Amino acid sequence: MKFLQFTDIHLTKDGETIGGRDPVLNFRKGLAHAMEFHADAEALFITGDLSDWGDAEDYQKLKDILRDVPVPVYPLIGNHDERALLRAAFPDLADPNGFVQYTVPLSLGTAICLDTWGPQSHAGHFCETRAAWLQAQLSRLEGPVWIFMHHNPVALRIAPMDKIMLLDADRFAATIQPFSGRIRHIYHGHCHLPLAGSLHGIPLYAPRGTNHAGWADFSATRLLSSAELPEAYAVTFADTASTMTHMVEFGYAGDIKGEGSPDYADWDRTTMVR
Ligand SMILES: [Fe+2]
Ligand SMILES: [Fe+2]
Repeated sequence: MKFLQFTDIHLTKDGETIGGRDPVLNFRKGLAHAMEFHADAEALFITGDLSDWGDAEDYQKLKDILRDVPVPVYPLIGNHDERALLRAAFPDLADPNGFVQYTVPLSLGTAICLDTWGPQSHAGHFCETRAAWLQAQLSRLEGPVWIFMHHNPVALRIAPMDKIMLLDADRFAATIQPFSGRIRHIYHGHCHLPLAGSLHGIPLYAPRGTNHAGWADFSATRLLSSAELPEAYAVTFADTASTMTHMVEFGYAGDIKGEGSPDYADWDRTTMVR
């Protein structure tokens, strides 16, 4: 099984930039890269912050861009999104309570996409109603489960980030703990940082986003830090026993020494010949 994760695409008006980077252009660039190498993926999850300001036009633009993508795409809600407008553009993604959360059958189990949005807040929310829905899905589903969500359910130990993490992390953790043996992995976004961790033994992963990049500033007290690091998405390969996720830095513009490079023999001699 192979699937892709894009996160924090932050679409905005054509030509507008965020941190000097054009999110629409970068999203298109990331998709083109992913489709060149991973068009055989069975799903592409976009783990939230689809729009930068939650504008209806951004969701329309997302639909237009995705029309030509041969892989099925599953958008999730992030703090920069507007739930009512996102739901209007993607009505099939709503649960009976109006949250943007749903399940997706995968060849190795089921993906559960969660809604961690709260009004007027950059932090993540996971109320009793959403927890009950998740609990019902985990009870109902058979086989391995892969969870996707926007907000991180584990603190980064970076103060400004931890103020806007999933505030209901305890409720989320208590909901998934009884099913930890069946939940293969949790994938999130929001931090614009590549992260790996675990929760009740369940591995967690987040890639950097497809536009502006964060910086892990452990001395920061109030403000989020950023850096000029390459735009990225993630690709995951999995079988019944193992999972491997790569962060693909499609925005990297420097040299790559590889097969066919003119100086490859030198590179190979210094690194591989013993
Ligand atoms: Fe974001
Ligand atoms: Fe976010």
